[in-house]
Amino acid sequence: MKSKKQSASGKGVFISFEGPECAGKTTQIRMLQEYFTKKNIDTVVTREPGGTVIGEELRKIVKHHVGETAVVDEAEVLLFAASRAQHVRKVIIPALSSGINVICDRYSDSTMAYQGYGRGLDLSFIAMLNRFATAGCMPDLTFVLDLTAEESSERIINREETLFLEDRIESAELSFHKRVRQGFLEIARQEPERVKIISAVQPKEAIHGQIIGLLKNVIG
Ligand SMILES: Nc1ncnc2c1ncn2[C@@H]1O[C@H](COP(=O)(O)OP(=O)(O)OP(=O)(O)O)[C@@H](O)[C@H]1O
Ligand SMILES: [Mg+2]
Repeated sequence: MKSKKQSASGKGVFISFEGPECAGKTTQIRMLQEYFTKKNIDTVVTREPGGTVIGEELRKIVKHHVGETAVVDEAEVLLFAASRAQHVRKVIIPALSSGINVICDRYSDSTMAYQGYGRGLDLSFIAMLNRFATAGCMPDLTFVLDLTAEESSERIINREETLFLEDRIESAELSFHKRVRQGFLEIARQEPERVKIISAVQPKEAIHGQIIGLLKNVIG
């Protein structure tokens, strides 16, 4: 497919979606992908942890081992970083360099919010680990779909697709998810140019409209 130039630099635009479970990230990513497709703009949609064969293997380890076999916090943060290191170098940077947009379902901000603010691991260590894993490749724009821990938990209960698949992180206690939310809000406060908070408690179309409005400032 012929690639359309995305930005003044000729590089693709890098967009990440963040926020708690069931905030509507995947829903919005699909809508945005459709928007780009209609405009004939080449886009790669990918996710973390995952996005590569190795990353998808690591995703299973991180998400679905529970009880005795669950990873400890320190291993968890390193596994996420390993997945990201592979993903950035094999998928994200090559796509952006050839002028293709990248939409990523979770990225380094999730590590800061979940493992840093949520688990209480050292924030400056995580910042350093993120820089190492990403090789400094950060999104041009990050949308944090904001939902309270209670609302997120309510949506998880009602979501049919994952009713029978235990997810270790999803099922962590409410206070953990409250800290994660505060983490995302703090990241947005620190980097207001890149990180945009959008209320997830709106109709899907309204959220999509807000996202397009913010995007137009970046890609014109
Ligand atoms: N704006 C919205 N209002 C109400 N419900 C929504 C909205 N957007 C998505 N949902 C519903 O919330 C659930 C989760 O949506 P989705 O899978 O897009 O979220 P997610 O953030 O990708 O979740 P996860 O973190 O588990 O991947 C689905 O049942 C979806 O239909
Ligand atoms: Mg999702």
